[in-house]
Amino acid sequence: MKLPPYFDLAQFDEMAAILNQYPLVYVNTINSLGNGLWVDPTDDTVVIKPKGGFGGIGGQYAKPIALANVRAFSQRLKPEIQVIGTGGIYNGRDVYDLILCGASMVQVGSALYEEGPSIFARLKQELAAEMQAHGYHSIEDFRGKLKIMDAEA
Ligand SMILES: Cc1cc2nc3c(=O)[nH]c(=O)nc-3n(C[C@H](O)[C@H](O)[C@H](O)COP(=O)(O)O)c2cc1C
Repeated sequence: MKLPPYFDLAQFDEMAAILNQYPLVYVNTINSLGNGLWVDPTDDTVVIKPKGGFGGIGGQYAKPIALANVRAFSQRLKPEIQVIGTGGIYNGRDVYDLILCGASMVQVGSALYEEGPSIFARLKQELAAEMQAHGYHSIEDFRGKLKIMDAEA
């Protein structure tokens, strides 16, 4: 199941309650941010062609939304449903952050389109370096272990 991005805690609650009723193995979050619009400043034209300029937005803009959706669903889904984290991956730290928020796997969209399949070897190498810097040997050592701040502090 590939999910659109959600922005309200009530939406996370409601969608997770629905998904938990089904024998899903993976939920992939997020799909692109719906119907954005991008202007090319060199000639004042739209950059996205098919719908008069309207289209899904991915890449760097998607990362904070992806992190939040991955975190929210990994906290709410039953343990047998794993989360595939998608949105804003350009380097190994981006992959690391999605895993830290609860992803078991990741998907790469925009950066794969820009860089081609060789990106996977680079991401793997950069993720390994990031894990080594933190003393982690496996993904389970840090998956979902995002540190949060005490609201009283
Ligand atoms: C060229 C391109 C084509 C895409 N086509 C689809 C698609 O057919 N179905 C889908 O669910 N998502 C599609 N997406 C969205 C991506 O799967 C992904 O959810 C989104 O772009 C966010 O990830 P990103 O920041 O790595 O691009 C596409 C993205 C790109 C860049």
